[in-house]
Amino acid sequence: MKVAVTGGTGSWDRGVGPVVIAALREAGHEVTNLDWAVPGGIAGRGFIKVDLTDYGQTFAALYGHDAVIQLAANGEPDWDHVSGAARFHTNTLIAYNVFQAACFLGMKKVVWASSETVLGFPFDIVKPKLLPISDDDPPIPTSSYGISKAVTEDLARHMNRRYGVPFIGLRFSNIFYDTPGHVTGYDKVPSFWDDPISRSFNLWGYVDSRDIAQACTRALVADVHGAEAMTIAAPDTIMTQTNAELVAQCFPGCALRPGIGAHESLISIDKAKRLIGYDPQWTWRRVLGRND
Ligand SMILES: NC(=O)c1ccc[n+]([C@@H]2O[C@H](COP(=O)([O-])OP(=O)(O)OC[C@H]3O[C@@H](n4cnc5c(N)ncnc54)[C@H](O)[C@@H]3O)[C@@H](O)[C@H]2O)c1
Repeated sequence: MKVAVTGGTGSWDRGVGPVVIAALREAGHEVTNLDWAVPGGIAGRGFIKVDLTDYGQTFAALYGHDAVIQLAANGEPDWDHVSGAARFHTNTLIAYNVFQAACFLGMKKVVWASSETVLGFPFDIVKPKLLPISDDDPPIPTSSYGISKAVTEDLARHMNRRYGVPFIGLRFSNIFYDTPGHVTGYDKVPSFWDDPISRSFNLWGYVDSRDIAQACTRALVADVHGAEAMTIAAPDTIMTQTNAELVAQCFPGCALRPGIGAHESLISIDKAKRLIGYDPQWTWRRVLGRND
């Protein structure tokens, strides 16, 4: 397929776009990166410079593609109330422009980056009563970032109802990179283990950038016809402690569902496994070569 990836350049400290683009090309797709930031400062083949908050530019850049992977956003969750309005505006406007143009162009599929933050992040505000949480639970976002993603999930449903184009929203967990020194590199992981509260904000979730790329690649060709949203996380938590220990320390009174594994992710990835065949390959134990 001829696939447009929006936000494919990625920011220096988080950007997953280049990993997704490389995986799509590896899978045989012809890929165009649509971004206003030029990757590596060189606007070469396979790149279109575009401001995705402008509908005309967005439509023109998407023209000629069979499908889109919509990653572009202000991707930084807000921890204050001041910056929220601009973030909400950017994220929902880019999503509207990309979705509307993709539908009008009759694309085969829209895959887009939602976020685990729709499910309650940070969990020191929304105290869970039963874990794991799942994609069947109602969204309860708390920040403008999370609300922008929850609103975009609604937008996708309306676009799908109106135009019939399939939408797959991937609720990414906190993306980690197998790059020493990276802001979210695996070398940081051992420093979390002495302080479970420091990572309770997202139920100790994470996901490898390569599994994000796998999810995008699979979603593109998955046999899904509606507008679905599903969590993309690692199969385990980022901690050495068991789930029973973590929950007892950080969320006293919260119950664990029967049958949950000792280290299994506390945000269920069952829907992504079922609908797109998501099969995460990377864990911190594999990367760091540990068995604890
Ligand atoms: N990184 C994470 O841990 C994480 C977790 C959950 C969800 N997500 C979501 O995944 C997606 C990708 O995340 P990321 O970390 O790679 O984000 P990022 O901030 O690194 O990259 C976003 C890209 O969008 C581009 N962009 C922003 N506004 C634009 C505009 N108006 N026109 C054109 N391009 C524009 C930026 O230049 C950048 O290249 C985002 O939607 C983010 O919200 C990321």
